[in-house]
Amino acid sequence: MDKHDLLPIGDVAARSGVSVPTVRFDEERGLIHSERNAGNHRRYGRHTLRRIAVIRAGQRFGLSLAEIGEALATLPTDHPPTKRDWTRMSARWHDTLTARIEAMIEVRDGLTGCIGCGCLSVTTCPIYNPGDELSAEGAGAQRWPEDARGE
Ligand code: FES
Repeated sequence: MDKHDLLPIGDVAARSGVSVPTVRFDEERGLIHSERNAGNHRRYGRHTLRRIAVIRAGQRFGLSLAEIGEALATLPTDHPPTKRDWTRMSARWHDTLTARIEAMIEVRDGLTGCIGCGCLSVTTCPIYNPGDELSAEGAGAQRWPEDARGE
């Protein structure tokens, strides 16, 4: 990579609109990568700016750093991603977000009956027992904390 394409950490932070510690944090998580110059200072390829933009966008979408890392792992680290790379990655995020939105709509619709109720019924309340998960554990009280049983 041409040395003129390499940016010091302060420039990366300023151009990305994030702090220097945030750039370091992203690098520690393996989301971006640097190389060291002769003076042992970090230098980042210009395409790092796009990777940081993707990280911030993913966080805005509510994705975890692990999910963002999985997506970034599909992109090249030694040269700028191609349009095809971006398209593939953004299509996966689109699918992830669509599934999450549909799940949230289902939860929201299930909560309609809770508005103004407050019963927190073990058998009927979707807040207390979503999808009637407790029925799989058998009859009777199921929420006793294991560490309070003295076992
Ligand atoms: S609070 Fe009564 S059904 Fe959820």
